[in-house]
Amino acid sequence: MRCPRCGELLDTLVDTGKAHIRWGGLHGRGVWRYRDLLPGLNHVVTMGEGSTPLIRLREYPNAYVKFEGANPTGSFKDRGMTVGASLAVSLGVRGVVVASTGNTAASAAAYSARAGLECVVVLPKGNVARGKLAQSVLHGARIVEVPGTFDNALEYVLDTVLSDGAVNDINYYPLNSINPWRLEGQKTIAFEIIEEIGVPDFVFVPVGNGGNIYAIWKGFRELLELGVIDRVPRMIGVQAEGAAPMVRYWRGLGEARIDNPRTVASAIRIGKPVNWFRAYRAVKYSNGLFLEVSDEEIIRAQGMLGREGVGVEPASAASLAGYLRALKEGIVDVNDRVVLIATGHALKDPDILVRDNVQSITISSLEELRRLLKT
Ligand code: F0G
Repeated sequence: MRCPRCGELLDTLVDTGKAHIRWGGLHGRGVWRYRDLLPGLNHVVTMGEGSTPLIRLREYPNAYVKFEGANPTGSFKDRGMTVGASLAVSLGVRGVVVASTGNTAASAAAYSARAGLECVVVLPKGNVARGKLAQSVLHGARIVEVPGTFDNALEYVLDTVLSDGAVNDINYYPLNSINPWRLEGQKTIAFEIIEEIGVPDFVFVPVGNGGNIYAIWKGFRELLELGVIDRVPRMIGVQAEGAAPMVRYWRGLGEARIDNPRTVASAIRIGKPVNWFRAYRAVKYSNGLFLEVSDEEIIRAQGMLGREGVGVEPASAASLAGYLRALKEGIVDVNDRVVLIATGHALKDPDILVRDNVQSITISSLEELRRLLKT
């Protein structure tokens, strides 16, 4: 999955001259609504992923939350997994393998189960939120835990599956975001945004490995080439302060890698983003930027979304936290139209929400409840 000449990750090119997409004539829903811009496959493993709601915030009416928690396994990963699992089936492999901070594992486990494939998930021990781990168990994945962070887990997978000769004797298809086909599914986030509200001014995306921000930008770019839109929104990559290798690189402070990434947002606790160059291109060529937010800002943003009825996991709240930071710093104006990508569901990581004692009142009589409802 790397170019033998330059070593960069391989990409998928859509022949926009041959793609027959008539925006008015699309049918179906979800990811496969855009099949003309996706790889042609004989067999599709799908559970109705995509077509997620775009929710306008009460407090910031020009901000729309793209709620990816509404996907079948509760994260945007399902958009890529429907394409990846379909491909794995057509390749005739025994199963799929992924390293993950949890969501990719949950999605791979579910889509493998649907497809009748085996699934091996390699997880950083003690670094995966409980809801996600539970999903991998439920869908019957083989769970392998390694010491360290996600970066170590990914190294294990890449070094075994993509090393010379491995192709012949390991019959497991790697479905991390080095896999260009997964990103093809994820780019449909851009298509749905355009169909619903046209071109926003900014799109805020939480960045871990950097695959998703690139995929979304790629989606916008393809619509630009097809003449569907006349400009691409500015892509803003948001990272957590303690896990911000892209911010470091963006500011010219060194390579896009750090040791010991730390943040409450376990989904994006990543120090060596494998798609760093893709993410960099998406941000640079859209005239965007990378910014970092603190864990406190992330938790506050999660609470704000919660009070608007939108339940997201901490990593997902990074996009709102980034937006608030950008407003404060004058990077964005309240009149600008922005989309905040909310990547995963609140139930993925429930522990953090009930970490402190839950505020509650214990009662033992109807009278007490009656009194309470009156005050
Ligand atoms: N938000 C959530 C909820 C995620 O699970 C991830 C990545 C991201 C954002 C970042 O996306 O890596 O494409 O920049 N989770 C991966 C996983 C690493 O294993 O589930 P990215």
